Amino acid sequence: MATAYNIIDHTYDVVVVGAGGAGLRATFGMAEKGLKTACITKVFPTRSHTVAAQGGISAALGNMSEDDWRFHMYDTVKGSDWLGDQDAIEYMCREAIPAIIELEHYGVPFSRTPEGKIYQRAFGGMTAHFGKQQAYRTCAAADRTGHAILHTLYQQSLKHEAEFYVEYFALDLIMEDGECRGVIAWNLADGTIHRFRAHLVVLATGGYGRAYFSCTSAHTCTGDGNAMVLRAGLPLQDMEFVQFHPTGIYGSGCLITEGVRGEGGYLTNSNGERFMERYAPSAKDLASRDVVSRSMTIEIREGRGVGPDKDHIHLHLEHLPADIIHQRLPGIAETAKIFAGVDVTKEPIPVLPTVHYNMGGIPTNFRCEVVQPTAENPDQVVPGLMAIGEAACVSVHGANRLGSNSLLDLVVFGRSAAIRAAELVPAGKSHRPLRADSADFALERFDRIRNANGSIRSGDLRLEMQRTMQNNCAVFRTGEVLEEGSKLISDTFAKKGEVSIADRSLVWNSDLVEAIELDNLLYQAVATMHSARNRPESRGAHAREDFPNRDDENWMKHTVTWVSETGETRIGYRPVHLYTLTDEVEVFPPKARVY
Ligand code: FUM
Repeated sequence: MATAYNIIDHTYDVVVVGAGGAGLRATFGMAEKGLKTACITKVFPTRSHTVAAQGGISAALGNMSEDDWRFHMYDTVKGSDWLGDQDAIEYMCREAIPAIIELEHYGVPFSRTPEGKIYQRAFGGMTAHFGKQQAYRTCAAADRTGHAILHTLYQQSLKHEAEFYVEYFALDLIMEDGECRGVIAWNLADGTIHRFRAHLVVLATGGYGRAYFSCTSAHTCTGDGNAMVLRAGLPLQDMEFVQFHPTGIYGSGCLITEGVRGEGGYLTNSNGERFMERYAPSAKDLASRDVVSRSMTIEIREGRGVGPDKDHIHLHLEHLPADIIHQRLPGIAETAKIFAGVDVTKEPIPVLPTVHYNMGGIPTNFRCEVVQPTAENPDQVVPGLMAIGEAACVSVHGANRLGSNSLLDLVVFGRSAAIRAAELVPAGKSHRPLRADSADFALERFDRIRNANGSIRSGDLRLEMQRTMQNNCAVFRTGEVLEEGSKLISDTFAKKGEVSIADRSLVWNSDLVEAIELDNLLYQAVATMHSARNRPESRGAHAREDFPNRDDENWMKHTVTWVSETGETRIGYRPVHLYTLTDEVEVFPPKARVY
């Protein structure tokens, strides 16, 4: 098979796949440490989805209110509904402080307090003194924080002379005897096929929001790395936990940052009632996202939604002073105008819970090494492979991520990956030759999809998948709905072989790109639906109406799910790390349950 395509070979110490916040932080960190580093990305780096992150990045700097990384850690463990790994959470919350100072020194243009400190706003679930009062912990660059960070990280990558392969689509991993040896990629611009040999491959390929009909994610968010991992015979973890952001614009799904509520915005129903006061009397509109999304859904279901069809909710910020909107929320004012026709200084924004983030992904330890459970070791490292960012499940977010912990995850674990890579790979270490058939697995699939000659257009099959995910794996779930969803999504997966491709060329073939992305999404949709059906409890973003309580006795464990080439799933488990890295956090004694 490999001979049917001309392959161009490259050799690096490390190859990073993806150029969002995590990918770029890892890329320049590795280059800075003297490793020969390549970054492969299917979009231009500054177009990666991190650019769309709005509200901010959390760190207990204490610039605007008393704060401590231990408070941040407590909130993150609690927010995760006790599914987060506490060693990784400690690492993230401690490292948050130097990571933000480092970003400031790299040149991120954060908003400032009158004294010139980094501006920090309130976000849901972020408290001081272990839940006693609201913390102001989310560092912001107006409401374009991801944009500011991504551009700075790209500048650092150029400064450190990392090599970029831009608009190269990574197809599959090169695996040999359980070890990752590299990756095969397709250059979208000229159609050439490239084989990257590396001591380490770092997957920073983002989430898979596009498996759903309505999401805040870019069209490029198709979880390509997650699917590569499944095809390599490795599992994904906690895929049932899909976060709905409470405030996607009704209709388009565009994100309206939680920072709006952090600055004093609030939600109302058709009676004009601030209903969050009933559901979360102390946190109100700044309760964690799972709580707010469920409350909004209940209001709509019980007939108190707004609009002619009573099917959405109002988000108000017209009471805020215009200069606050202008200084701190200029981006969402523009987005609301364009996508909802609303002038936010005069009228509320119509909003609806919208798919926003995947807590699940590629299981790793806090050093970013991919792990898989074996009979002997639940944390067995897969040599040569790392994962970071939304693609990874470290797991710092457990069953529910707190807003502004995502940008933090990207930079802390991008940096951690670079530190670990430098320990594992001596710069310039020689490479063993690859097997002669090392590209066959990737190219056989590529060729099969390229020459697909069935009767279903990939756009139609994508819509079928998205509707099933939206209807059968939503904010609220029941066994019956998930059972039906599992059958429907498996049927859709089975139709993969009936897709047709109109354009068989290799140069800028967007038809083929979309078909490959759909193939990737289908693997993850199957993993998500079947994992959700398998978990008979409610925890974080997984709200089962037939099992409304959390069941720590039986289900405080990570789900790991394998999906075969024919769409069959196999489910196993990994224990949650209920121990910290140090003994410093008295509320979380090592090796103890902490609730
Ligand atoms: O609401 C927001 O600005 C989103 C932040 C996040 O998902 O962390």
